[in-house]
Amino acid sequence: MSHLMNTYARQNVAFVRGEGVWLWDEDGRKYLDALAGIAVNTLGYGHPKLTRALSARLASGVIHTSNLWRIPDQEAAAERVAEITGLDEVFFCNSGLEANECAIKIARKYGHERGIAEPAIVVMEKAFHGRSLATLSATGSRKVQAGFEPLVSGFVRVPLNDLEAVRHVAEHNKNVAAVFIEPIQGEGGINVARLEYLRGLYELCQRKHWLF
Ligand SMILES: Cc1ncc(COP(=O)(O)O)c(C=O)c1O
Repeated sequence: MSHLMNTYARQNVAFVRGEGVWLWDEDGRKYLDALAGIAVNTLGYGHPKLTRALSARLASGVIHTSNLWRIPDQEAAAERVAEITGLDEVFFCNSGLEANECAIKIARKYGHERGIAEPAIVVMEKAFHGRSLATLSATGSRKVQAGFEPLVSGFVRVPLNDLEAVRHVAEHNKNVAAVFIEPIQGEGGINVARLEYLRGLYELCQRKHWLF
């Protein structure tokens, strides 16, 4: 019996070797990997640059230090991300839900700074934002929320691609501080936010001084 908590319906296959886009299981069967880490860590397998960087880190003996000290590799990675995105600052975390928790906290803090006692965030139907309490509350799926109530409050849900619905919220809810959206929903089905919708949403956010 596995001592792993049963949080995933895992298939009975384990990969023991990888090269490029290929994986091999314990019985030597070869697979073309078209999934990676479910949309994250799409790095392929055994890339020489990654292997070199990880090996050098291991060989240095310094696998981890606390955030109390400077971490030069982290600074270099942040510089590169800033260069690519054109944004100023980077927050590194361990998972998508942590990134989203951070975004929710930033939105709430921003709301408080604007004098809103109970800041609200506009979220989309069928959205998926993670499985922590705040992010599952922001998620638009009862399946993800069921059993974990009470949910975190402060989310206003609207249908995707419906700018009128967001305008309606803007008119009636003075507590909104931000809009939270996946440009392409994955978990909720492959639902694409239309470009003109995203542009309209961005303009509305600029006008209302909401984070986007
Ligand atoms: C759009 C989206 N947001 C957030 C998450 C949560 O990420 P994580 O599982 O790394 O916490 C996922 C994970 O599938 C996702 O697809």
